[in-house]
Amino acid sequence: MRPKRIAIFTGGGDCSGLNAVIRAVAKKAMGEGYEVIGIEDGYEGLVKNKYRKLENSDVSGILALGGTILGTSNTANPYRYAVQAKDCKFVFKDYSKTAIRNFKRLKADALVAIGGDGTLSTAYRLYEDGIPIVGVPKTIDNDILGTDITFGFDTAVWVATEGIDRIHTTAQSHHRVMIVEVMGRTAGWIALHSGVAGGGDIILIPEIPYDINSVVKKIKERHGKGKRFSIIVISEGAKPKGGDVVVKRMVRESFESIRLGGVSFVLGAQIEKMSCIETRAVVMGHLQRGGSPTPFDRVLATQLGTRAMDFVNEGAFGHMVAVRNNEFVKVTLRDVAKGKRLVPRNHPLVESARSVGTSFGE
Ligand code: F6P
Repeated sequence: MRPKRIAIFTGGGDCSGLNAVIRAVAKKAMGEGYEVIGIEDGYEGLVKNKYRKLENSDVSGILALGGTILGTSNTANPYRYAVQAKDCKFVFKDYSKTAIRNFKRLKADALVAIGGDGTLSTAYRLYEDGIPIVGVPKTIDNDILGTDITFGFDTAVWVATEGIDRIHTTAQSHHRVMIVEVMGRTAGWIALHSGVAGGGDIILIPEIPYDINSVVKKIKERHGKGKRFSIIVISEGAKPKGGDVVVKRMVRESFESIRLGGVSFVLGAQIEKMSCIETRAVVMGHLQRGGSPTPFDRVLATQLGTRAMDFVNEGAFGHMVAVRNNEFVKVTLRDVAKGKRLVPRNHPLVESARSVGTSFGE
């Protein structure tokens, strides 16, 4: 009889807690007599057949480790695989059949896909094409449909809040407007949570386009009351009413080709011009994705990983482990692939922030 075997990979942008999930899946699987195959560099490993057998020693001591021991790729997609042609240009080819064949050669009973919306929508296609997949939701952006929370988010919020706290004291000393730009793509969850946690005076998120006049009015009002500094927390995807996002670069071969960034500098220049108050901007960037996960993320990642193995044992393929109202539930990958979970304009935390005087620049 051949041994029971699972394969596992991490796809998309990394975040803190990936190793904690790998550890949880692998330790539970090994304890139940499975062999565990680690596919390297996300979908690239499936296409190029890059994998290694994981032993207990590989997954021991990695709970608190940032990054992913398996590597990842936020560009590889078997259905639209970028192959470098001349002059650094890419041509796209469908390598899904190769990926499926490579998976079948592994003789694995299941594939555990740890990833964000891009990885999980591709996982849905692979599931439809015959791979027995279980998904685990990962992203600092917290924007995956079907789950209330993703691991990596809490750590990102913690890092961003730490940044805002440090900016607070220097803003106060120099009587400046300080803008802290955080990640999140088209979702404002990181800005909302870190903005509230860090006591931001103005929080700007993609879901609530801002009016520059309201932003400046709020800063001047604070000045009028003797508060000579202001803290603005802005999501990289925030945009003015009737305006557009600030694009930092294009990564054509990626699932979502636009890379956002720099809105804080654009806003800062406008504020300085309109208010005559010195304004500086800081971009938190990839600091939010690196390093050790918070205790919350370690606990969440461990639970998601062990539940994923429950799904494998139940044969609940084509599903993602989700958290709804503090319970772990099954959500179909089909539903996950339908879109993104954005911040509702009347979300209770938005209302609470408004109640303590925070402006959303409306
Ligand atoms: O989706 C996670 C995320 O960190 C976003 O918040 C951010 O916009 C994007 O990835 C950055 O991607 P990259 O690592 O390719 O710059």
